[in-house]
Amino acid sequence: MMNASKTEYRILVVEDNPGDFALVEDFIFEQIESPIIIQVKTFKEAEEILIKTGPVYTVVLLDLSLPDRAGEALIYEMVKLCRNIPVIVLTGYTDFAFGVKSLSLGASDYLLKEDLTSISLYKSIIYSSERKRIISALEESEKRVRSFANQLNNALEEERARISREIHDEFGQHLSGLKMSLSSLKKSNNGNHELETLISALVADVNISIESVRQIANELRPVLIDKLGLIAAIEWLVAEFEKKTGISSYLEADTDQLVMDEMPEINIFRICQEALTNITKHANATSVKIQIKNTDGQLFIKIIDNGSGIKSKTLHNPLSMGLLNMKERANLIDAKLNINSSSQNGTIIELILDTNGKKNINSRRSFRN
Ligand SMILES: Nc1ncnc2c1ncn2[C@@H]1O[C@H](COP(=O)(O)OP(=O)(O)OP(=O)(O)O)[C@@H](O)[C@H]1O
Ligand SMILES: [Mg+2]
Repeated sequence: MMNASKTEYRILVVEDNPGDFALVEDFIFEQIESPIIIQVKTFKEAEEILIKTGPVYTVVLLDLSLPDRAGEALIYEMVKLCRNIPVIVLTGYTDFAFGVKSLSLGASDYLLKEDLTSISLYKSIIYSSERKRIISALEESEKRVRSFANQLNNALEEERARISREIHDEFGQHLSGLKMSLSSLKKSNNGNHELETLISALVADVNISIESVRQIANELRPVLIDKLGLIAAIEWLVAEFEKKTGISSYLEADTDQLVMDEMPEINIFRICQEALTNITKHANATSVKIQIKNTDGQLFIKIIDNGSGIKSKTLHNPLSMGLLNMKERANLIDAKLNINSSSQNGTIIELILDTNGKKNINSRRSFRN
């Protein structure tokens, strides 16, 4: 025995040929101290045992031609069944291309029976289980980072909503009070023309301030999202964008009913907001369209401009924080974000969100189109 090991190795061998199983068993015993080896002879037996015992195996060694299943279909089913257990494919086919294919189907390794030695089998078992362990640890760590980012994002949105309410309620009310006082003053003025002109100018200033406060509060937390839902909020965003920039802009939406929670709504809104800000700052565009399609349980949102396009170097620059934030927000809501850009056709930012199984909210929305 060359490599005595203290780790407990539980190896499930899915092999119907007694000679091949005996060989594999001998090889394992040559390298591993007191392994637990369980043999099953069909896919069905493997399925039953994996469902019954759960993920207790270090690896699964899989013969590619079983009586009840073989080849690609077998690998596909077995990898799905094993989830975190590495699957090492053992086969007599001397087809290299098929080996590569088995890896792309999720197998951890591919060994030809003709070339098998106790060392190559042992190495493969060690590498595969170690790789799976590292990948699982990375996935766990990514989950933790994502959950932290999620909490941070929620806290940020809550804080924005709080500041928005404060600004709206405090400043908004004071300014409305000021406007009423000025109106009373105007009424009680006894024909003093100069004073009347001054009061009118002050009322106009207060009106501008009320509008600014409303706008700032809205940008911090679009009340329309809460009151009327995402589409109305995006509609408002597009109208404001056109008003501010003079760039011809419109919203095209094929739905008045979205399958959606609050979290996706605010994140989608922020993605659209950043995309539009980028268009103002960088695109030099003359027209912008936001397209919303809700078909077959998928929500597609495209922000399309006819501007100068994003350079591919910039697109992959990890310091492009705006683009990165868009991707991160998409990740947070399990959506996909694709960016297609060229200097001829401008930029398309596409967000794809699976809406199947999510909470159904009846939209109370209005459309421009
Ligand atoms: N629609 C667009 N058209 C042309 N270029 C764009 C567009 N959107 C982004 N870019 C390019 O991609 C770069 C990165 O965008 P990103 O939003 O990450 O950063 P930023 O807008 O420069 O800064 P920030 O968003 O952090 O304030 C921009 O600097 C710009 O060169
Ligand atoms: Mg930006």
